[in-house]
Amino acid sequence: MSSLIAGKLALVTGAGSGIGREVCRVFAREGAKVVATDLNIKTAMETTATLEGKGHVALNVEVSDRKSVEAAFEQVLKQFSKPPTIIVNSAGITRDNFLVKLSDSNFGDVIDVNLKGTFLVMQTAVKAMIAANATENSSIINISSIIGKLGNIGQSNYSASKAGVIAMTRSACMEFGQFGIRVNVVLPGFIDTPITTTVPDKVKELFIKNVPLRRIGKPQEVAEVIAFLASDKSSYINGASIEVTGGRLRPTIIFIIIPREHFRTIGRTTSDSADSPSRDTVDPWSSSRIEGLI
Ligand SMILES: NC(=O)c1ccc[n+]([C@@H]2O[C@H](COP(=O)([O-])OP(=O)(O)OC[C@H]3O[C@@H](n4cnc5c(N)ncnc54)[C@H](O)[C@@H]3O)[C@@H](O)[C@H]2O)c1
Repeated sequence: MSSLIAGKLALVTGAGSGIGREVCRVFAREGAKVVATDLNIKTAMETTATLEGKGHVALNVEVSDRKSVEAAFEQVLKQFSKPPTIIVNSAGITRDNFLVKLSDSNFGDVIDVNLKGTFLVMQTAVKAMIAANATENSSIINISSIIGKLGNIGQSNYSASKAGVIAMTRSACMEFGQFGIRVNVVLPGFIDTPITTTVPDKVKELFIKNVPLRRIGKPQEVAEVIAFLASDKSSYINGASIEVTGGRLRPTIIFIIIPREHFRTIGRTTSDSADSPSRDTVDPWSSSRIEGLI
């Protein structure tokens, strides 16, 4: 075990899978106690079971629900007698569809989890740190996406939520800096986790062609950057957006021929979706024909 963040208490959201799980592993390896939170308590417990060291806990948290977030921080205070001073917002979802086919619920759910969830966790965490006089050398790391900067076909909801996370990080760093709390945001590119399993191999190949390193990233490659941002090694980095993309600096533009039938119902989609949301869950990858790449 090394000691980059030894003795620190860290809370990670979305800790039951992918990047969040890997962050927990790297944090535990670096000497921190980890509170692994997820909507899915079973997978959060699976995460804590694999961590180095003792005293890690798993908690069930729905990040878009204020009561759930506040209850989790109360539970942590009770159990550890101090608030976590490293916070990682990794919980995130996608509900992909073309903008003209996107239902209110698929737009709202993504904003609620990715953007409002990050807001609720940051607000609750900072209040707890201030109340406990534990703000010095604290670090919050939000996870956005390179899509928040570049945009992406079929991800207008996701790109908006992730652009919001970048902007909110900037505002938060200006408000919290005076207390000694740093806030930074990481923008991963295409990382090999369950969230990307719905992307067909053909589309993955097109994305990889656009990455100078010519491969998909590993969750650990994002987690190591987050551990650096959590540690005192990054003590003067604040409000920064750090890309972890293998060098992907421009969008992968795919010519997509959208079959005409997908546009025939445009006038009906938004209002109909509340009654029949399943009609609106068209997978843009399968409903389109990929023609090429520039
Ligand atoms: N994998 C990528 O290519 C990639 C790229 C850029 C950004 N990201 C971002 O990184 C973060 C982690 O993504 P990942 O690839 O590890 O995804 P993942 O699907 O493997 O993990 C996401 C975790 O979040 C949890 N979660 C979902 N909704 C939640 C909610 N409402 N409350 C609490 N937990 C919830 C899920 O249960 C899951 O364990 C996300 O914010 C994602 O948008 C991922």
